[in-house]
Amino acid sequence: MTTANLHPRLTVVGHPLVQHKLTLLRQRETSTGEFRRLAREISLLMAYEVTRDLPLETRRIETPLEPMDSPILSGKKLCFVSILRAGDGILEGMLDLVPSARVGHIGLYRDPTTLAPVEYYLKLPEDVRSRLAVVVDPMLATGHSAAAAVERVKQAGAEQISFACLLAAPEGLSIMAEAHPEVPVFTCAVDRCLDDHAYIRPGLGDAGDRLYGTK
Ligand code: URA
Repeated sequence: MTTANLHPRLTVVGHPLVQHKLTLLRQRETSTGEFRRLAREISLLMAYEVTRDLPLETRRIETPLEPMDSPILSGKKLCFVSILRAGDGILEGMLDLVPSARVGHIGLYRDPTTLAPVEYYLKLPEDVRSRLAVVVDPMLATGHSAAAAVERVKQAGAEQISFACLLAAPEGLSIMAEAHPEVPVFTCAVDRCLDDHAYIRPGLGDAGDRLYGTK
């Protein structure tokens, strides 16, 4: 199956450095500190891909030797929206690359009866509608939280939205393709499937627990 069959706007970041670091990240014996460091490094490299199409304009500047017309970012500024809590583990790397970006947070939990995502926290920058919003969560598993978070950012008025994760399951991509086919999705790998507990297989375990050493 090609990636376009999973989601019409899917990018798998296949850069060798990203793939190497992802392998280290997945390994059972990787310590909490090392896991956090790797997640940060990978997400910095992902931010490079996510921002690849940002528009440029030309600015007249003077080098020490002569004037020139030089490219500079124009138009929309960025806002990263982290899905709590594991999203914060990849937020840092993205901010390393784009330190001036604004940051929003969304907290969602799964209703035990309906299994639907329920929002318990939301804080977005006031001007999110005029920014490129990048929703981040390390794991695109069932896709329900990601789809709900993107929906909330749309409701807040943002018109240009991307989603970035470290690992995706085909099931999550299919939910995103149904709910938000126009939203570009960036991931470092598409794994085999979800198991009965909604863990991505082979995956890397629970991203939040591994980032924060809570298990
Ligand atoms: N969330 C995780 O942290 N890991 C998974 O495998 C799936 C969802």
